Amino acid sequence: MKNLKINGQLLQVNADDNMPLLWALRDVMDMTGTKYGCGKGLCGACTVHIDGEAVRSCITPIGALEGKEITTIEGAEGNPILQTVQEAWYHADVPQCGYCQSGQMMSAAALLSKNSDPNDEAINMAMNGNLCRCGTYTRIRKAIKNAAD
Ligand code: FES
Repeated sequence: MKNLKINGQLLQVNADDNMPLLWALRDVMDMTGTKYGCGKGLCGACTVHIDGEAVRSCITPIGALEGKEITTIEGAEGNPILQTVQEAWYHADVPQCGYCQSGQMMSAAALLSKNSDPNDEAINMAMNGNLCRCGTYTRIRKAIKNAAD
């Protein structure tokens, strides 16, 4: 049993320490906004925040997470930067199939929380590990710039 703070709420999670956070979120807690893509830390679909940093939840065991602040896409309501990012995504009409987009938004929000006016290089660096098979990268960049305004 682990006590995890997720989106501001302390939740008891009945799972093994080695269970990746992605599985705990989706299969144990029924929080399915965070997506499974590769399961190997390579695609970014499963990105969440841990203490404000963008982290791949598919390769992060829950045993290391007690006392940390975990934020998922479901936590946007209590997170002004994430909420701004979601609105910018909506207005830029970013998603095509949509599958990777919660991870994209989590990476974008982590970037904007550290750099409120990122240049192209900073955006490339922050978003480099988030893959989109529909190729929505141009709209993602536009939405990040709009969210930064
Ligand atoms: Fe975690 Fe691809 S599912 S990085």
